[in-house]
Amino acid sequence: MMNPTTITTIWAENRRGADAAGIDETAPRLSWTTDGSADTYDIELIRENGDADHHRTTGTRLIEWPFAPLRSRERVTVRVRAATPHQGPWSTPFTIEAGLIERNDWQEPFVSPSGSAGTDTLRPAYLLRAETDLNQWGIRPSDIRRARVYATAHGVYELEINGRRADESILAPGWSSYRHRLRYQTYDVTHLLEPGANVLGAWLGDGWYRGRIGFDGGVWNAYGDDVALLVQWEITLLDGTVRRIPLAGNWRWTTSPITAVGLYEGETYDARLLPANWSRPGHDTSGWEPTQALATEDFPAALEAPPGPPVVVTERLRPVSVTTLPDGRVRLDFGQNIAGTLRIRVTASEGHRIRLHHAEVLEEGRLGVRPLRSATSVDTFIGDGKPQEWSPRFTVHGFRYAELENWPSGADIDVEALVVHSDMPRTGWFSASDPRLERLHSNVVWSMRDNFVDLPTDCPQRDERLGWTGDIQVFAPTALFLFAAHGVLTSWLRDVAHEQAEQGHVPNFVPWVECGFPNHPTAAWGDAAVIVPWEMYLNDGDARILRDQYPSMKAWVDLVASLAGPDGRWSEGFQLGDWLDPAAPPEDPGLSRTDRHLIASAYHIRTARILARTAGVLGHDDDARTYERLAEHALHGFRAAYLGADGTVLNDTVTSHAVCLCFDLMRDDEERAHAGRRLARLVADNGFHIATGFVGTPLVFEALIATGHVEEAYALLLQDQSPSWLYPVSQGATTIWERWDSMLPDGSINPGDMTSFNHYALGAVADSLHRHVAGIHATEPGWRTFTVRPVLGGGLTHAAATHLTPYGRAGVSWRRDGSTFRLHVTVPPSTTAQVWVPGEPGPRQLAPGEHDIESAYLPDTGEWHPPVPSLIGAPAESP
Ligand code: BGC
Repeated sequence: MMNPTTITTIWAENRRGADAAGIDETAPRLSWTTDGSADTYDIELIRENGDADHHRTTGTRLIEWPFAPLRSRERVTVRVRAATPHQGPWSTPFTIEAGLIERNDWQEPFVSPSGSAGTDTLRPAYLLRAETDLNQWGIRPSDIRRARVYATAHGVYELEINGRRADESILAPGWSSYRHRLRYQTYDVTHLLEPGANVLGAWLGDGWYRGRIGFDGGVWNAYGDDVALLVQWEITLLDGTVRRIPLAGNWRWTTSPITAVGLYEGETYDARLLPANWSRPGHDTSGWEPTQALATEDFPAALEAPPGPPVVVTERLRPVSVTTLPDGRVRLDFGQNIAGTLRIRVTASEGHRIRLHHAEVLEEGRLGVRPLRSATSVDTFIGDGKPQEWSPRFTVHGFRYAELENWPSGADIDVEALVVHSDMPRTGWFSASDPRLERLHSNVVWSMRDNFVDLPTDCPQRDERLGWTGDIQVFAPTALFLFAAHGVLTSWLRDVAHEQAEQGHVPNFVPWVECGFPNHPTAAWGDAAVIVPWEMYLNDGDARILRDQYPSMKAWVDLVASLAGPDGRWSEGFQLGDWLDPAAPPEDPGLSRTDRHLIASAYHIRTARILARTAGVLGHDDDARTYERLAEHALHGFRAAYLGADGTVLNDTVTSHAVCLCFDLMRDDEERAHAGRRLARLVADNGFHIATGFVGTPLVFEALIATGHVEEAYALLLQDQSPSWLYPVSQGATTIWERWDSMLPDGSINPGDMTSFNHYALGAVADSLHRHVAGIHATEPGWRTFTVRPVLGGGLTHAAATHLTPYGRAGVSWRRDGSTFRLHVTVPPSTTAQVWVPGEPGPRQLAPGEHDIESAYLPDTGEWHPPVPSLIGAPAESP
């Protein structure tokens, strides 16, 4: 008899790797992974009063909530077991707890310490506290089943209960388009309560809400003049009654030891100013002031539970070297470029100031701070004569190096770097026999970590850190392979839709801040509104993101259609083009070799096609036909303008050819083969150096593979002289650079104003490492079927990739032993792998399980590999 199937993990909606506390879905869909394939499954729901409900279902993915909708605050547990053909054991229970779903669940007002303080300078952070006695409300500890705090802020906040932090999250509530959406956090504070008197306390700083954000001087008070806190405290008694403990009249505020703080500038903390035990009961609050309650119209944003994980410290790094410099500063090298802060442990005498400087690189033996532009990134700690452990609360820096200025002489250097980003579970891994490729991949992983600090940003260090649409547009497939990024992207896409509706087009970065950048619809950037949801759907097979974003996707394609000429070409107006083409001068990164209108028109075809496919998935058949026709029309115009009669790509650049091939714009196989040959020639003539910017770079390797030019593809991938993917690796880079030559071969920093050492965009090539070098990609949305087809070349003797699909772990690992080729494939339950073995005419179909295959090693001599399905808009079917 076969072993019964066991359930390995359960999750609700896209919250992989976490329980579902404080969600605002009333009917959360359930998914689980298993170690086998059962025909049917039982779901058991247990309510808090012990009532149970059961439901039998087939499938393991996105099972519609079969029970009564959850109400605000309702807490249930769910268990799952295989039912037929063999009954399996019940899974570990999974808890789901609803947050405050209705607006009128919120009874507390926003309270503000600041009133109106619309100055354009760094401001202090505040301490707020509310003390109340549970006896006064007739509540004894033995009556309490659980206690929750629901909280959010205008600004950023950190919560303390009775002297202890409420959780480990950082920079809550994160950055959203605050005019439209404000996320609240749910804290389990049961274990923090004390009998009788209790204190809820908060640190509150400016953050994105009213601190300076954006470049060219940036914008202060982008969302309002006030900072304010919203806290609602509720206790559920043993009999199930929910009691709200009113706080409104009890709040008092004072300035905190953080005397000045900005996300870009850094934090100044004076340890002498921390009121002892300020968030413990009984603290003397004479000198603290009452807060002001904001009127309801002062917070128009909808309150919502976070669709993604909180920002936390995910790793702590010790310096790999500590050097005392001639001027007395102590330089620390953490060996890795990160987003985060330092944590220091030190005893500094009263009033002694230690300054912490940060930089990504060194130049001429000094911290290279010019690329930070106006983000000074200096923290100051002022001692109080006692041993202290401190890290700044309301700022983040992008750095590998730090310098300690004025560290007390003789004191131990006890300093760590805290790596800070959204707490996304890792889902993708890669390895290869060439360590340079492994480093390249690791750099991509790090640049993703460093730039997913609550939203997908361009860079983590300079006065920018904005949700640039084009960057995530090209990087989304890689991001979704590497980490469970759906929550972060779902949240961000909601902002995209809101701001698009407000402005009439997709802003170039979201949330949008008016800091002087041209506010015009832009190809490849605005197209993120269509491509990112589509990539999410391809990755996890969940069409809900398509349904939710459909109006936004459609509005973008309609807008571009209205901007296009009668022939369907988008050939007027502002464009960023193939941004950061290596041939563009440092001071003008948009001046690329490739015709920017060719790019704009090609993207229009691509997103119209994706929209047509999306309409098909959602059952909007009329729309599917309309947008298919729109795409056909635009394709016709494109070919007439940009392809010669013989199929020659008239704009003779690498990016143009890669775009035409990957977006499936050529007329037939002959034209494709011709364009492939020309592309291979252009790449070879350029000495296998990169000749592409943001648009062409994710496509060129792909286009060469797709047309059978494997040798050229690998020569390009493995080039290590600038410009190339491996040049930064050869220079010791630990993250992906914004420019191919952010650091010039002579060790000086590129003179351009845009010179970050931590931009994921050009790391989009990792998608090709997974798909072709290791050789694994989904063939059906959600990985129900996937393809294993390594492209053997480049002298590699081994490569491997693994992805945690919604069905479990899928993996490939291949190895060359002399003339023998060994392939190991992992196929998760309920899925099928199509596996190409060298020398065989077609793929083998492999069932779930572990498979070892051996054959002769035959380097790939250029059979055609179909272009990446997502790039051409297919496939259309839902799983
Ligand atoms: C950002 C980019 C962005 C570009 C477009 C830069 O400042 O850092 O990554 O996409 O501007 O203009």
